[in-house]
Amino acid sequence: MKIALLGYGKMGKAIEKIAEAKGHEIVYRVDMDNSFDFMPVSLQNVDVAIDFSMPTSAVDNINKCFDAGVPIVVGTTGWYEHFDGIKQRCIDEKQSMVYSTNFSIGVNIFYKINKILAEIMAKTDDYDVMIEEIHHTQKKDHPSGTALSLAKQIMSEISSKEKIKDRLLFDRNQPAQSTKPNELLIESIREGDVTGVHTVRYENVIDTIEITHAAKSRYGFARGALLAAEWIVGKEGIYTMEDILEI
Ligand SMILES: NC(=O)c1ccc[n+]([C@@H]2O[C@H](COP(=O)([O-])OP(=O)(O)OC[C@H]3O[C@@H](n4cnc5c(N)ncnc54)[C@H](O)[C@@H]3O)[C@@H](O)[C@H]2O)c1
Repeated sequence: MKIALLGYGKMGKAIEKIAEAKGHEIVYRVDMDNSFDFMPVSLQNVDVAIDFSMPTSAVDNINKCFDAGVPIVVGTTGWYEHFDGIKQRCIDEKQSMVYSTNFSIGVNIFYKINKILAEIMAKTDDYDVMIEEIHHTQKKDHPSGTALSLAKQIMSEISSKEKIKDRLLFDRNQPAQSTKPNELLIESIREGDVTGVHTVRYENVIDTIEITHAAKSRYGFARGALLAAEWIVGKEGIYTMEDILEI
């Protein structure tokens, strides 16, 4: 496959490595420095584009791929306020797109477990629930897209949780703040070079039930994104990793 990498940072470079090892060719790379030269015509010889750029550039990049009729895999998070418009354009114009807040196969299994656990916990009002996510200090958005996906799943099962309370911490020893019963707390901790750790914690005075996914490297995200790129070529419509993994 001939691939365009939209965003050539940590993830773009990780995808390049495994794509080339699998015999794919990276024919175009867009980064901050050359983003102004990127036009739909730049994608003339491209089979699929993979976007791991910035929350501020993802929507523009998706629209340029649609203009060029090139399938796109979107890993960038933090642009979802524009999601409905992008989805509509994709459907109306029979374009092709895969998006996911997390392309790791392990996290998609974790989403499934989170949903089942929330279904069980919805049957008791004994426990309070919160989410903790830990990432490296360069991460631009908070809460992480993965934490927001976990929150959405929990809130669709546990009706007492009506809104998210976002708390960003650069020092995890900061004193706790009070949270209202209808708020689902997401603590976003930024420290060191952490690739990504997500914990869903149910707690009462008696015990704690926790599920955690910890990414050991960026390899899992890159492998999943490449799998999505191989899968979307030749298809029409908007898909997530759940569709690809059939879980
Ligand atoms: N969905 C997932 O599985 C997953 C996994 C890891 C990271 N992410 C997300 O992917 C994004 C990128 O992550 P990263 O760790 O590679 O970040 P990064 O900061 O290392 O790389 C982002 C790159 O985008 C470039 N860029 C800036 N403006 C651009 C533009 N207009 N067009 C193209 N590129 C542009 C920057 O120069 C930078 O090199 C973030 O939003 C992150 O949260 C998602």
